[in-house]
This record gives sequence, structure tokens and C-alpha cells, in this order.
Amino acid sequence: MDKLVSKAGLLSRNDAKAYIRGGKVSVDGVLKTNPAEKFSENSIIFLDGEKIVYEKNVYYMMNKPGGIVSASEDKKEKTVVDLIKERGNRNLFPAGRLDRDTTGFLLITDDGEFAHKILSPSRHVEKEYIVETDLAIPSELIDFFKEGVDLGDFTALPAVLKILSEKRAAVVLKEGKYHQIKRMFLKYGLKVVSLERIRMGNLNLDENLKAGEYKKLTAEDIGKIAQRG
Ligand code: URA
Repeated sequence: MDKLVSKAGLLSRNDAKAYIRGGKVSVDGVLKTNPAEKFSENSIIFLDGEKIVYEKNVYYMMNKPGGIVSASEDKKEKTVVDLIKERGNRNLFPAGRLDRDTTGFLLITDDGEFAHKILSPSRHVEKEYIVETDLAIPSELIDFFKEGVDLGDFTALPAVLKILSEKRAAVVLKEGKYHQIKRMFLKYGLKVVSLERIRMGNLNLDENLKAGEYKKLTAEDIGKIAQRG
């Protein structure tokens, strides 16, 4: 029961136990004081007079700021997960890392199965990025990316490149290997000077989110992420 209350109430396990022992929790209308008692996940729980809802998993869209590592924890520095204030005792992690200097749509969740589903190249979930380069982007790069770039240790799957202006383009990938976009451009002699992810599946980065801000996603949003391209 304390596990359920801590997850639903965004509390640590110890705080949840203290609330239960202190007579502040009722389950299905009955006051309960034993944190070890077992309950179904569908129970109606009141904490301090307020109804709290248990969610098996949570999903956040973050507009990742530059300069922060895409990790759950780091001994030395703050991570993207540290920016989530309501994390409670959930094991949140970024589903699909962005480089330290890359900004934009980062999905943070505690649902390992869903993360696997949207990251697996065989599922064809698109990820779209806006890229800025140091030199003008030649139109031959469209075919170069379409054919699949040989990066030595692996060959990238065919990717779509849309040139937006001289040094700006959109790239759509269905996979996400380490430094993949930077390496694909570098293979053609272009350096990526800024990179932002703007879409995962059919869900666009919310333009109202400032760098470092995040929002919880609805079931509909989550469904849109999982849509195949
Ligand atoms: N490709 C990169 O090179 N970096 C990212 O952060 C994402 C895709």
C-alpha cells in the first residue's frame, strides 16, 4: 500500500508510510493505517482528504535545454531527470538520448517497454530534427541520406533530408545511434552547429515549452508518439 500511495501521491516511500501510519489515508472509503496491507491498483485512495490517482507509468515531454546530460543520474552534474520536480520515487529515464548540446523534444518516462517500442528501428517511429550547419548544404545530400550513409561501424537507414535554407535543414530518422546526425553530416564534410529534435512519431514538440520546461503527456499524445511513419 505504501508503494501505491507513494506513486499516486508523488511521495517518497518513507513519507507515504508516515502518512498511512498517521491515519491520513483511506482506501475505498475505509481508513487504513498499515503500510504493508495489499490493495488493487484500481482502489480509490484519499490522501489527506484529496483523491489521488495511481498511474502505472508516467510520460513527460521536455524541451531539453543545451548543456544538460540525457541520463537518469550522474555523480557530478544535474541531469534531465533531475529537472522533473514531481518524480517521486519513480525510476524515470530519457527514452532516446540527445547529446549534451542538442535541444528539443525529449521523452522522459518510467515505461521501459514503451521506450523500447518507439526506439526500435523496426518499429519505424520517426524522429525529426532541425539542423544548422557550418557550410551550405548541397542538394546532393538529399540522395546521400536517402541511400543510407555508411558510417563505418554501421550503415544508417535511409533518412529524409529537407533543405530549409542555405545552412538549415530538417532530417527525419527512424533510428537514433550515438551522434548519428552529426556523423552523417560530417561524412559529407559538414559540421552540425545546432541540433534540435522537434517531433517523435506524430507528436510535435510543444512550442509553448521553454528550454528546460516539461509537461505530462496524455494517453492521446502517447498514442501519437507510437505511430509509425
Ligand atoms: N543525432 C546526433 O548527432 N545527436 C543527437 O543528439 C541526436 C541525433
